[in-house]
Amino acid sequence: MIFTSTSKGLRGELTVPGDKSISHRAVMFGALSKGTTSVTHFLKGADCLSTIRCFRQLGVSIEDSREKLLIHGQGLHGLKEPSGWLDTGNSGTTTRLLSGILAGQSFSSAINGDASIQTRPMGRIMEPLRQMGARIESLKANGCAPLSIVGGPLRGISYVSPVASAQVKSAVLLAGLYAKGVTSVTEPALSRNHTELMLRGFGAQVDICPETHTASIHPEPALTGQQISVPGDISSAAYFIAAAALTPHSEVLLRHVGINPTRAGMLRVCENMGVDLTLLNQTNHGGEPAADLLIRFHDLSGTVIEGDLIPTLIDELPILAVMACFAKGKTIIRNAEELKVKESNRIAVMVKNLSAMGAHITATEDGMIIEGGAPLHGAQIDSHGDHRVAMSFAVAALNASGETQIQDASCVTISYPEFYRDLKSLCQ
Ligand code: S3P
Repeated sequence: MIFTSTSKGLRGELTVPGDKSISHRAVMFGALSKGTTSVTHFLKGADCLSTIRCFRQLGVSIEDSREKLLIHGQGLHGLKEPSGWLDTGNSGTTTRLLSGILAGQSFSSAINGDASIQTRPMGRIMEPLRQMGARIESLKANGCAPLSIVGGPLRGISYVSPVASAQVKSAVLLAGLYAKGVTSVTEPALSRNHTELMLRGFGAQVDICPETHTASIHPEPALTGQQISVPGDISSAAYFIAAAALTPHSEVLLRHVGINPTRAGMLRVCENMGVDLTLLNQTNHGGEPAADLLIRFHDLSGTVIEGDLIPTLIDELPILAVMACFAKGKTIIRNAEELKVKESNRIAVMVKNLSAMGAHITATEDGMIIEGGAPLHGAQIDSHGDHRVAMSFAVAALNASGETQIQDASCVTISYPEFYRDLKSLCQ
Protein backbone atom coordinates (compact mmCIF):
# COMPACT_ATOMS: atom_id res chain seq x y z
CA MET A 1 0.00 0.00 0.00
CA ILE A 2 1.36 3.44 -0.95
CA PHE A 3 1.17 6.58 1.22
CA THR A 4 2.05 10.20 0.44
CA SER A 5 2.31 13.39 2.46
CA THR A 6 -0.50 15.78 3.29
CA SER A 7 0.11 19.52 3.16
CA LYS A 8 -3.21 20.81 4.47
CA GLY A 9 -3.28 18.87 7.74
CA LEU A 10 -5.90 16.69 9.41
CA ARG A 11 -9.24 18.18 10.39
CA GLY A 12 -12.51 16.81 11.74
CA GLU A 13 -13.73 14.41 14.36
CA LEU A 14 -13.67 10.68 14.85
CA THR A 15 -14.86 7.95 17.19
CA VAL A 16 -12.11 5.33 17.35
CA PRO A 17 -13.08 1.63 17.76
CA GLY A 18 -13.62 0.07 21.18
CA ASP A 19 -10.76 -0.73 23.51
CA LYS A 20 -9.09 -4.03 22.60
CA SER A 21 -8.16 -5.04 26.15
CA ILE A 22 -11.64 -4.34 27.49
CA SER A 23 -13.33 -6.07 24.52
CA HIS A 24 -11.33 -9.29 25.09
CA ARG A 25 -12.13 -9.27 28.79
CA ALA A 26 -15.84 -8.59 28.24
CA VAL A 27 -16.12 -11.83 26.25
CA MET A 28 -14.03 -13.87 28.69
CA PHE A 29 -15.66 -12.64 31.90
CA GLY A 30 -19.11 -12.73 30.31
CA ALA A 31 -18.49 -16.36 29.35
CA LEU A 32 -17.62 -17.26 32.96
CA SER A 33 -20.68 -15.47 34.38
CA LYS A 34 -24.26 -16.57 34.95
CA GLY A 35 -26.69 -14.73 32.69
CA THR A 36 -26.16 -12.58 29.66
CA THR A 37 -23.50 -9.91 29.17
CA SER A 38 -24.23 -7.27 26.57
CA VAL A 39 -21.37 -5.27 25.11
CA THR A 40 -21.67 -2.10 23.06
CA HIS A 41 -18.84 -0.55 20.98
CA PHE A 42 -17.10 -3.95 21.02
CA LEU A 43 -13.95 -3.99 18.89
CA LYS A 44 -14.47 -6.31 15.92
CA GLY A 45 -10.77 -6.56 15.16
CA ALA A 46 -9.18 -9.91 14.33
CA ASP A 47 -7.71 -10.34 17.84
CA CYS A 48 -11.05 -9.99 19.63
CA LEU A 49 -12.70 -12.19 17.00
CA SER A 50 -10.11 -14.84 17.97
CA THR A 51 -11.33 -14.59 21.56
CA ILE A 52 -14.95 -14.99 20.43
CA ARG A 53 -14.03 -18.01 18.28
CA CYS A 54 -12.20 -19.72 21.18
CA PHE A 55 -15.07 -19.23 23.62
CA ARG A 56 -17.59 -20.49 21.08
CA GLN A 57 -15.42 -23.62 20.81
CA LEU A 58 -15.64 -23.87 24.59
CA GLY A 59 -19.42 -24.05 24.35
CA VAL A 60 -20.36 -20.41 24.93
CA SER A 61 -23.12 -18.95 22.78
CA ILE A 62 -22.18 -15.47 21.54
CA GLU A 63 -24.57 -13.42 19.39
CA ASP A 64 -23.13 -10.69 17.25
CA SER A 65 -25.54 -8.06 15.99
CA ARG A 66 -24.54 -4.72 14.48
CA GLU A 67 -24.95 -2.68 17.63
CA LYS A 68 -24.11 -5.14 20.40
CA LEU A 69 -22.50 -8.41 21.32
CA LEU A 70 -24.47 -10.77 23.57
CA ILE A 71 -22.54 -13.36 25.55
CA HIS A 72 -24.66 -16.07 27.13
CA GLY A 73 -22.53 -16.97 30.13
CA GLN A 74 -22.04 -20.57 31.25
CA GLY A 75 -20.91 -19.80 34.80
CA LEU A 76 -17.46 -20.46 36.24
CA HIS A 77 -17.72 -24.24 35.71
CA GLY A 78 -19.80 -24.35 32.53
CA LEU A 79 -17.15 -24.37 29.79
CA LYS A 80 -17.07 -27.50 27.60
CA GLU A 81 -14.07 -29.47 26.39
CA PRO A 82 -13.18 -28.14 22.91
CA SER A 83 -13.17 -30.66 20.08
CA GLY A 84 -9.97 -29.33 18.47
CA TRP A 85 -7.15 -26.83 18.81
CA LEU A 86 -8.06 -23.40 20.15
CA ASP A 87 -6.69 -20.93 17.59
CA THR A 88 -5.71 -17.60 19.16
CA GLY A 89 -4.44 -16.11 15.89
CA ASN A 90 -2.11 -13.13 16.49
CA SER A 91 -3.48 -12.39 19.97
CA GLY A 92 -1.15 -12.52 22.97
CA THR A 93 -4.00 -11.42 25.25
CA THR A 94 -6.21 -14.32 24.13
CA THR A 95 -3.36 -16.83 24.41
CA ARG A 96 -2.22 -15.83 27.89
CA LEU A 97 -5.54 -15.04 29.59
CA LEU A 98 -7.23 -18.10 28.12
CA SER A 99 -4.35 -20.28 29.41
CA GLY A 100 -5.05 -19.04 32.94
CA ILE A 101 -8.73 -19.92 32.59
CA LEU A 102 -8.08 -23.34 31.02
CA ALA A 103 -5.60 -24.34 33.74
CA GLY A 104 -8.48 -24.61 36.24
CA GLN A 105 -10.96 -26.57 34.08
CA SER A 106 -11.85 -30.23 34.42
CA PHE A 107 -10.79 -30.99 30.84
CA SER A 108 -7.70 -30.81 28.64
CA SER A 109 -7.13 -28.39 25.83
CA ALA A 110 -4.49 -27.18 23.41
CA ILE A 111 -3.80 -23.68 22.13
CA ASN A 112 -1.96 -22.45 19.07
CA GLY A 113 -1.71 -19.20 17.16
CA ASP A 114 -0.04 -17.67 14.12
CA ALA A 115 3.70 -17.48 13.34
CA SER A 116 4.14 -14.40 15.59
CA ILE A 117 2.40 -16.04 18.57
CA GLN A 118 4.65 -19.07 18.12
CA THR A 119 7.67 -16.87 18.91
CA ARG A 120 6.25 -15.00 21.92
CA PRO A 121 7.36 -16.08 25.41
CA MET A 122 4.88 -18.21 27.33
CA GLY A 123 7.29 -19.19 30.13
CA ARG A 124 6.14 -16.01 31.87
CA ILE A 125 2.68 -17.52 32.38
CA MET A 126 3.63 -21.20 32.55
CA GLU A 127 5.94 -20.57 35.50
CA PRO A 128 3.35 -19.05 37.91
CA LEU A 129 0.56 -21.32 36.65
CA ARG A 130 2.73 -24.36 37.40
CA GLN A 131 3.38 -22.98 40.88
CA MET A 132 -0.41 -23.05 41.27
CA GLY A 133 -0.39 -26.73 40.30
CA ALA A 134 -1.30 -26.31 36.66
CA ARG A 135 -0.18 -28.83 34.07
CA ILE A 136 0.76 -26.61 31.18
CA GLU A 137 3.47 -27.26 28.63
CA SER A 138 4.93 -25.73 25.55
CA LEU A 139 5.01 -28.26 22.71
CA LYS A 140 8.08 -26.51 21.27
CA ALA A 141 11.62 -26.29 22.63
CA ASN A 142 11.46 -22.46 22.71
CA GLY A 143 8.79 -22.20 25.44
CA CYS A 144 6.22 -20.69 23.08
CA ALA A 145 2.87 -21.85 21.68
CA PRO A 146 1.59 -24.42 20.86
CA LEU A 147 0.59 -25.07 24.47
CA SER A 148 -1.02 -28.12 25.99
CA ILE A 149 -3.07 -27.66 29.16
CA VAL A 150 -4.38 -30.48 31.33
CA GLY A 151 -6.93 -28.78 33.55
CA GLY A 152 -7.07 -29.68 37.23
CA PRO A 153 -7.16 -28.44 40.81
CA LEU A 154 -5.14 -25.29 41.57
CA ARG A 155 -3.87 -23.64 44.73
CA GLY A 156 -3.59 -19.91 45.43
CA ILE A 157 -0.10 -18.39 45.39
CA SER A 158 1.48 -14.99 46.03
CA TYR A 159 3.35 -14.39 42.82
CA VAL A 160 5.98 -11.69 42.45
CA SER A 161 6.19 -11.13 38.72
CA PRO A 162 9.53 -10.10 37.20
CA VAL A 163 7.69 -8.15 34.45
CA ALA A 164 5.03 -5.45 34.58
CA SER A 165 2.63 -7.30 32.31
CA ALA A 166 -1.15 -7.19 32.46
CA GLN A 167 -1.27 -10.40 30.47
CA VAL A 168 0.79 -12.25 33.09
CA LYS A 169 -1.12 -10.66 35.97
CA SER A 170 -4.47 -11.48 34.37
CA ALA A 171 -3.55 -15.10 33.54
CA VAL A 172 -2.64 -15.72 37.18
CA LEU A 173 -5.69 -13.89 38.59
CA LEU A 174 -8.01 -15.80 36.25
CA ALA A 175 -6.50 -19.11 37.34
CA GLY A 176 -7.07 -17.77 40.86
CA LEU A 177 -10.83 -17.88 40.22
CA TYR A 178 -10.47 -21.68 40.39
CA ALA A 179 -7.78 -21.99 43.09
CA LYS A 180 -7.96 -23.07 46.69
CA GLY A 181 -7.27 -19.92 48.71
CA VAL A 182 -6.43 -16.38 47.69
CA THR A 183 -4.14 -15.68 44.71
CA SER A 184 -2.13 -12.49 44.52
CA VAL A 185 0.18 -10.95 41.94
CA THR A 186 2.74 -8.25 42.68
CA GLU A 187 4.33 -6.51 39.71
CA PRO A 188 7.38 -4.22 39.51
CA ALA A 189 5.25 -1.37 38.12
CA LEU A 190 1.51 -1.11 37.65
CA SER A 191 0.30 -2.53 34.32
CA ARG A 192 -3.19 -1.91 32.93
CA ASN A 193 -5.81 -2.80 35.54
CA HIS A 194 -8.85 -3.65 33.39
CA THR A 195 -8.95 -7.23 34.70
CA GLU A 196 -9.13 -6.08 38.30
CA LEU A 197 -11.77 -3.40 37.65
CA MET A 198 -13.93 -5.53 35.37
CA LEU A 199 -13.80 -8.70 37.48
CA ARG A 200 -14.99 -6.59 40.41
CA GLY A 201 -17.81 -5.30 38.24
CA PHE A 202 -18.83 -8.91 37.44
CA GLY A 203 -18.92 -9.71 41.19
CA ALA A 204 -15.47 -11.07 42.11
CA GLN A 205 -13.67 -9.98 45.25
CA VAL A 206 -10.47 -8.33 44.04
CA ASP A 207 -8.29 -6.43 46.50
CA ILE A 208 -5.81 -3.88 45.19
CA CYS A 209 -2.80 -2.46 46.99
CA PRO A 210 -1.61 0.48 44.87
CA GLU A 211 1.57 1.05 46.91
CA THR A 212 2.97 -2.43 46.26
CA HIS A 213 1.28 -2.96 42.85
CA THR A 214 -0.44 -6.06 44.20
CA ALA A 215 -3.82 -7.44 43.15
CA SER A 216 -5.44 -10.37 44.99
CA ILE A 217 -8.44 -12.45 44.03
CA HIS A 218 -10.72 -14.67 46.11
CA PRO A 219 -11.77 -17.95 44.44
CA GLU A 220 -15.15 -19.20 43.32
CA PRO A 221 -17.04 -15.89 43.03
CA ALA A 222 -20.59 -15.85 41.70
CA LEU A 223 -20.00 -13.84 38.53
CA THR A 224 -23.09 -12.23 36.98
CA GLY A 225 -23.55 -10.95 33.43
CA GLN A 226 -23.10 -7.20 32.97
CA GLN A 227 -23.86 -4.42 30.49
CA ILE A 228 -20.57 -3.09 29.20
CA SER A 229 -20.05 0.00 27.13
CA VAL A 230 -16.51 -0.15 25.77
CA PRO A 231 -14.70 3.22 25.54
CA GLY A 232 -12.60 4.10 22.49
CA ASP A 233 -9.15 2.54 22.51
CA ILE A 234 -6.43 5.05 23.46
CA SER A 235 -3.93 2.79 21.67
CA SER A 236 -5.89 3.40 18.43
CA ALA A 237 -6.48 7.09 19.22
CA ALA A 238 -2.69 7.43 19.58
CA TYR A 239 -2.15 7.45 15.78
CA PHE A 240 -4.52 10.39 15.31
CA ILE A 241 -3.13 12.22 18.34
CA ALA A 242 0.31 11.92 16.74
CA ALA A 243 -0.88 12.74 13.21
CA ALA A 244 -2.64 15.91 14.37
CA ALA A 245 0.20 16.92 16.69
CA LEU A 246 2.89 16.77 14.06
CA THR A 247 1.08 17.82 10.86
CA PRO A 248 0.77 21.60 10.34
CA HIS A 249 -2.79 23.05 10.12
CA SER A 250 -4.33 20.10 11.99
CA GLU A 251 -7.21 20.13 14.46
CA VAL A 252 -8.83 16.79 15.37
CA LEU A 253 -11.47 15.84 17.93
CA LEU A 254 -11.47 12.20 19.11
CA ARG A 255 -14.71 11.25 20.83
CA HIS A 256 -15.00 9.15 24.00
CA VAL A 257 -11.49 7.74 24.36
CA GLY A 258 -10.63 5.62 27.43
CA ILE A 259 -8.11 7.45 29.64
CA ASN A 260 -7.61 4.93 32.46
CA PRO A 261 -4.35 6.16 34.07
CA THR A 262 -2.80 2.68 33.78
CA ARG A 263 -3.19 3.06 30.00
CA ALA A 264 -2.91 6.78 29.35
CA GLY A 265 0.82 7.39 29.82
CA MET A 266 0.89 8.78 26.29
CA LEU A 267 -1.11 11.80 27.47
CA ARG A 268 1.63 12.63 29.98
CA VAL A 269 4.31 12.26 27.33
CA CYS A 270 2.31 14.49 24.98
CA GLU A 271 2.25 17.14 27.69
CA ASN A 272 6.03 16.85 28.10
CA MET A 273 6.53 17.11 24.34
CA GLY A 274 4.38 20.24 24.09
CA VAL A 275 1.40 18.70 22.26
CA ASP A 276 -1.64 21.00 22.21
CA LEU A 277 -4.14 18.51 23.67
CA THR A 278 -7.30 19.31 25.66
CA LEU A 279 -9.54 16.82 27.51
CA LEU A 280 -13.27 17.56 27.20
CA ASN A 281 -16.48 15.94 28.49
CA GLN A 282 -14.84 13.60 30.99
CA THR A 283 -16.97 10.60 32.11
CA ASN A 284 -16.44 7.50 34.25
CA HIS A 285 -18.23 4.15 33.81
CA GLY A 286 -17.30 1.15 35.96
CA GLY A 287 -14.08 2.84 37.05
CA GLU A 288 -13.00 3.39 33.43
CA PRO A 289 -12.61 7.13 32.77
CA ALA A 290 -13.08 8.46 29.24
CA ALA A 291 -12.93 11.87 27.55
CA ASP A 292 -13.04 13.62 24.19
CA LEU A 293 -9.55 14.61 23.09
CA LEU A 294 -8.99 17.80 21.08
CA ILE A 295 -5.56 17.93 19.42
CA ARG A 296 -4.09 20.82 17.44
CA PHE A 297 -0.77 21.07 15.62
CA HIS A 298 2.05 22.51 17.73
CA ASP A 299 5.85 22.38 17.68
CA LEU A 300 7.12 19.36 19.63
CA SER A 301 10.17 18.92 21.81
CA GLY A 302 12.12 15.78 22.71
CA THR A 303 11.61 14.02 26.02
CA VAL A 304 12.61 11.04 28.17
CA ILE A 305 10.19 8.09 28.44
CA GLU A 306 11.18 5.60 31.13
CA GLY A 307 10.45 3.77 34.39
CA ASP A 308 6.92 3.22 35.69
CA LEU A 309 5.52 5.16 32.75
CA ILE A 310 6.54 2.41 30.31
CA PRO A 311 3.76 -0.13 31.05
CA THR A 312 1.16 2.68 30.80
CA LEU A 313 2.09 3.37 27.16
CA ILE A 314 3.79 0.17 26.04
CA ASP A 315 1.70 -0.17 22.85
CA GLU A 316 2.14 3.54 22.02
CA LEU A 317 5.95 3.47 21.90
CA PRO A 318 6.13 2.84 18.12
CA ILE A 319 4.04 5.95 17.35
CA LEU A 320 5.84 7.93 20.05
CA ALA A 321 9.10 7.08 18.27
CA VAL A 322 7.60 8.56 15.10
CA MET A 323 6.57 11.72 16.97
CA ALA A 324 10.08 12.01 18.41
CA CYS A 325 11.50 12.19 14.85
CA PHE A 326 9.53 15.42 14.35
CA ALA A 327 10.40 16.92 17.74
CA LYS A 328 13.15 19.41 18.47
CA GLY A 329 16.02 17.77 20.34
CA LYS A 330 16.65 14.31 21.67
CA THR A 331 14.12 11.70 22.86
CA ILE A 332 15.29 8.77 24.96
CA ILE A 333 13.12 5.70 25.48
CA ARG A 334 14.51 3.34 28.11
CA ASN A 335 13.36 0.45 30.35
CA ALA A 336 11.27 -0.76 27.41
CA GLU A 337 12.87 -4.15 26.70
CA GLU A 338 9.32 -5.61 26.57
CA LEU A 339 9.09 -4.08 23.09
CA LYS A 340 11.27 -6.91 21.83
CA VAL A 341 8.60 -9.53 22.61
CA LYS A 342 5.53 -7.86 21.15
CA GLU A 343 3.89 -8.80 17.81
CA SER A 344 7.34 -8.04 16.32
CA ASN A 345 10.62 -6.89 17.87
CA ARG A 346 9.43 -3.30 17.94
CA ILE A 347 12.83 -1.83 18.82
CA ALA A 348 14.54 -3.45 15.83
CA VAL A 349 11.64 -2.95 13.42
CA MET A 350 11.02 0.73 14.29
CA VAL A 351 14.72 1.62 14.18
CA LYS A 352 15.29 -0.12 10.84
CA ASN A 353 12.23 1.40 9.15
CA LEU A 354 12.64 4.93 10.58
CA SER A 355 16.33 4.88 9.59
CA ALA A 356 15.25 3.95 6.05
CA MET A 357 13.15 7.15 6.04
CA GLY A 358 16.16 9.26 7.09
CA ALA A 359 15.55 9.50 10.85
CA HIS A 360 18.47 9.75 13.25
CA ILE A 361 17.59 6.88 15.54
CA THR A 362 19.65 4.29 17.41
CA ALA A 363 18.53 1.08 19.05
CA THR A 364 19.62 0.45 22.64
CA GLU A 365 19.29 -2.69 24.76
CA ASP A 366 16.06 -1.44 26.32
CA GLY A 367 14.75 1.24 23.98
CA MET A 368 15.80 3.85 21.42
CA ILE A 369 17.48 7.23 21.17
CA ILE A 370 16.08 9.63 18.59
CA GLU A 371 17.63 12.92 17.46
CA GLY A 372 14.59 14.79 16.19
CA GLY A 373 14.44 17.19 13.29
CA ALA A 374 15.98 15.24 10.40
CA PRO A 375 13.54 15.49 7.46
CA LEU A 376 11.92 12.14 6.61
CA HIS A 377 11.60 10.81 3.08
CA GLY A 378 9.47 7.99 1.70
CA ALA A 379 10.85 4.45 1.83
CA GLN A 380 9.90 0.78 1.60
CA ILE A 381 8.59 -0.20 5.02
CA ASP A 382 8.32 -3.77 6.21
CA SER A 383 5.57 -3.89 8.85
CA HIS A 384 6.57 -7.46 9.81
CA GLY A 385 2.82 -8.10 10.00
CA ASP A 386 2.69 -5.90 13.12
CA HIS A 387 -0.46 -3.74 13.16
CA ARG A 388 1.08 -1.00 15.34
CA VAL A 389 4.12 -0.73 13.08
CA ALA A 390 1.94 -0.39 9.96
CA MET A 391 -0.23 2.33 11.54
CA SER A 392 2.84 4.22 12.83
CA PHE A 393 4.34 4.40 9.34
CA ALA A 394 1.07 5.49 7.74
CA VAL A 395 1.32 8.51 10.10
CA ALA A 396 5.05 9.04 9.45
CA ALA A 397 4.33 9.02 5.67
CA LEU A 398 1.94 11.99 6.03
CA ASN A 399 4.96 14.15 6.84
CA ALA A 400 7.63 12.55 4.66
CA SER A 401 8.63 13.66 1.16
CA GLY A 402 7.88 11.24 -1.70
CA GLU A 403 6.14 7.90 -1.51
CA THR A 404 6.13 5.43 1.34
CA GLN A 405 5.23 1.85 0.59
CA ILE A 406 4.11 -0.28 3.54
CA GLN A 407 4.32 -4.03 3.08
CA ASP A 408 1.58 -6.13 4.63
CA ALA A 409 -0.34 -2.95 5.45
CA SER A 410 -3.56 -5.00 5.85
CA CYS A 411 -2.33 -6.31 9.23
CA VAL A 412 -4.11 -3.30 10.81
CA THR A 413 -7.21 -5.55 10.86
CA ILE A 414 -5.78 -7.00 14.11
CA SER A 415 -6.84 -3.96 16.13
CA TYR A 416 -8.32 -1.40 13.71
CA PRO A 417 -9.90 -2.77 10.51
CA GLU A 418 -11.06 0.69 9.29
CA PHE A 419 -7.84 2.52 10.14
CA TYR A 420 -6.92 3.70 6.62
CA ARG A 421 -10.49 4.83 5.89
CA ASP A 422 -10.57 6.84 9.13
CA LEU A 423 -7.15 8.37 8.52
CA LYS A 424 -8.18 9.38 4.99
CA SER A 425 -11.42 10.91 6.28
CA LEU A 426 -9.40 13.41 8.34
CA CYS A 427 -6.79 14.29 5.71
CA GLN A 428 -7.64 17.52 3.88
C1 S3P B 1 -2.58 -6.22 27.00
C2 S3P B 1 -1.44 -6.02 27.72
C3 S3P B 1 -0.17 -5.56 27.15
C4 S3P B 1 -0.34 -4.98 25.75
C5 S3P B 1 -1.27 -5.79 24.90
C6 S3P B 1 -2.64 -5.94 25.56
C7 S3P B 1 -3.79 -6.70 27.69
O1 S3P B 1 0.72 -6.64 27.10
O2 S3P B 1 0.90 -4.84 25.12
O3 S3P B 1 -1.43 -5.18 23.63
O4 S3P B 1 -4.90 -6.61 27.14
O5 S3P B 1 -3.65 -7.20 28.83
P1 S3P B 1 1.62 -7.00 28.39
O6 S3P B 1 0.72 -6.94 29.53
O7 S3P B 1 2.17 -8.37 28.18
O8 S3P B 1 2.70 -5.95 28.42
